[in-house]
Amino acid sequence: MKVTEKIKEKFLSVQCITKKVTAFALSAVMVCSLTACGSDFEGHIDTDIDYSQESGISAGDRIGVSMPTKDLQRWVQDGENMQSSLKKTGFVVDLQYADNEIDTQISQIQKMIDSKCKVLVVAAIDGTKLSNVLNKAKSAGISVIAYDRLIMDTDAISYYATFDNYLVGKLQGQYIVDALGLEDTDKTFNIELFTGSPDDNNCKFFFGGAMDVLQPYIDAGTLVVPSGETEREECSIQDWSTDAAKERMENLLADYYDDGTELDAILSSNDSVALGIAEALESDYSGKQPVLTGQDCDINSVKNILNGTQSMSVFKDTRDLASKVVEMVQAIINEEEVPVNDTESYDNGTGVIPSYLCEPVYADEENYKEILMDSGYYTEDQLK
Ligand code: BGC
Repeated sequence: MKVTEKIKEKFLSVQCITKKVTAFALSAVMVCSLTACGSDFEGHIDTDIDYSQESGISAGDRIGVSMPTKDLQRWVQDGENMQSSLKKTGFVVDLQYADNEIDTQISQIQKMIDSKCKVLVVAAIDGTKLSNVLNKAKSAGISVIAYDRLIMDTDAISYYATFDNYLVGKLQGQYIVDALGLEDTDKTFNIELFTGSPDDNNCKFFFGGAMDVLQPYIDAGTLVVPSGETEREECSIQDWSTDAAKERMENLLADYYDDGTELDAILSSNDSVALGIAEALESDYSGKQPVLTGQDCDINSVKNILNGTQSMSVFKDTRDLASKVVEMVQAIINEEEVPVNDTESYDNGTGVIPSYLCEPVYADEENYKEILMDSGYYTEDQLK
């Protein structure tokens, strides 16, 4: 099956999921106000079912949720969604944000261990730096779920819950192929490539997925990378920083596009990087708006999609991920079978970690109403 068909199939299946949604997602409404990320976002989550009625979980079991930063809308949503769902289920939740500081995250996790949390849900800042503290969790009999980003080099990780990160990259690559009409052209197009933080294991999948789609066109000469920077390391943006992405884009524009060379597309692995790229284009580039990808459907990027300065963003419905993690936590505590749907893709250096991969879809100007508004993720007012 061609990637476009596969992606269409995924899109249709997610449309279907969006319509059916899970019982969990259909049943309720949570409004979370996000102030710390400097966004006026208010997200919604469905949470009416009281799982504690059905599950036999002891009231007050403590769950630690360790998130990397409040700087990005998505992590604030992830944390709020999980906190609310876990509380509904009868757990006591210790939700912490680590300001993107590795030492802070380690000491927050240590406190969660000391306070006898039964399960830890951890979205790592740097997936290679948590082995010591998580080994202590293992010794204390605490299960650890790696959340969104795989935690490397420790067998203290029991499960991994994330979106299909490889598919995220494929969606972005295929969007560029379709937008430029690369499958049926004898023209050449210029592209530049950006990914995220080199310490984030997800980037291997985001960049790998996108390059699996784009590389054949680069090899055929249909896509040209004027900077020549095609290796993941060269295209990385430390900490997914908007400012660093802006600076790299400004440098590329000055070095390779100053003579009027057209830039047709930019692969960006997420929205915070795409925002920096869009800022640089606005101030330093006067050619036709290039195709620009993103990920997360952060509110500012959705606004950019609507004003034409970003083309698409991959939508990862954090409500789905949060509800899946709640199911996983419950199953661990009840010593039942934990839901996973991938036992091959994510080896953290100590073996494959059983994973649950949620499905991402893309949103753009054409389908954003259906994907983002009909599903109750954003209201019209939020996107004004
Ligand atoms: C997440 C993305 C996010 C990025 C920056 C990645 O690990 O999967 O959704 O945009 O981190 O926080």
